[in-house]
Amino acid sequence: MASGEKLTGLINKATPLEFLPRLSEYLGGTKIYMKRDDEGGRGEGGNKLRKYERIIGDAIASNCDTLIIAGHYQSNAARLLVSSACRLGLKSIVVCKELIPKQNDAFNNNGNALLMNIMGAEIVPAKPGDDYLQAMNKIAEKVKKQGGKPYVIPFGGSNLLGSLGYVDCADEIITQMKQAGESNPDYIITATGSGGTQAGLVAGILKNNLNTKIIGFSVLHKSQQAMEIVTGLADKTLKHLNSEHVPNDEIIIDDRFIGQGYGIPTKECLETIRLFARLEGLFLCPVYTSKAMTGLISYVKSGKIPKDKTVVFVHTGGSPLIYAYYDKLFKENK
Ligand SMILES: Cc1ncc(COP(=O)(O)O)c(C=O)c1O
Repeated sequence: MASGEKLTGLINKATPLEFLPRLSEYLGGTKIYMKRDDEGGRGEGGNKLRKYERIIGDAIASNCDTLIIAGHYQSNAARLLVSSACRLGLKSIVVCKELIPKQNDAFNNNGNALLMNIMGAEIVPAKPGDDYLQAMNKIAEKVKKQGGKPYVIPFGGSNLLGSLGYVDCADEIITQMKQAGESNPDYIITATGSGGTQAGLVAGILKNNLNTKIIGFSVLHKSQQAMEIVTGLADKTLKHLNSEHVPNDEIIIDDRFIGQGYGIPTKECLETIRLFARLEGLFLCPVYTSKAMTGLISYVKSGKIPKDKTVVFVHTGGSPLIYAYYDKLFKENK
């Protein structure tokens, strides 16, 4: 196992924790804070940077010079990997599938696809049925033959090293809530895809002996599959941290806000993007954060999260996705 040393430079300081006064008022008094993991770091920011701090750190410690990732044309993970590689003087290769049905004519050259193109990303197209791991291993062999040293990034950056990045995030939240004169949050909310973000938050909260509930609104897997992934990785992370805790009741996963599938916006999530932008002047993305925020709003409105509770919503990034889905969001002003 790699040492788990953090690579300095991808994120240089704690991301801000901000109170959201207008959303809190809109929701009838539930105190909502936002952990701004969309801010900070290069490449437009986002949750993958915390994961890459250790994963790319491991690649560098292993003397690798070429990072290989599986993604799609609108992948935040791929965009941030390419940006991190640029920053560190490494090569990167993105194996790209059309994982999300094309949403408009510009879908494969706007948003994240545009940013990757500007950074000179090497994109290797793959067919929808191709096995990602096989495709990445094949490229890795080719890199080796050419004298390079490849490093294959785990799916979504969700392995132990990636999860440790979100233990850091939990530590930051606890410190920043104290600094804000608040008690520990009753709930922390995130969008859950490959699971590393939620797993790290769970491990971080348990390591600190808190009973905060960590709600993951799944944007990819059904609840049961997501639960297995998150619980397994949180457990592994806690063991690595020599903690006696076992992840259990603090994990909540809800897949009811996915809609038709990964990357397909729901009517509600598009409304949430507008609502949130009009209340707070901040942007959520149509694939991840707006589905999670739709879940949060629904939980508070239905009383699942009581009005006297305190919530931290982790803004995991993804703002370039707004431009990829521009036609779903643009409304002619009347
Ligand atoms: C903006 C954004 N939010 C949330 C997630 C989900 O994080 P995880 O894959 O760790 O569950 C991702 C993953 O790609 C993401 O890009």
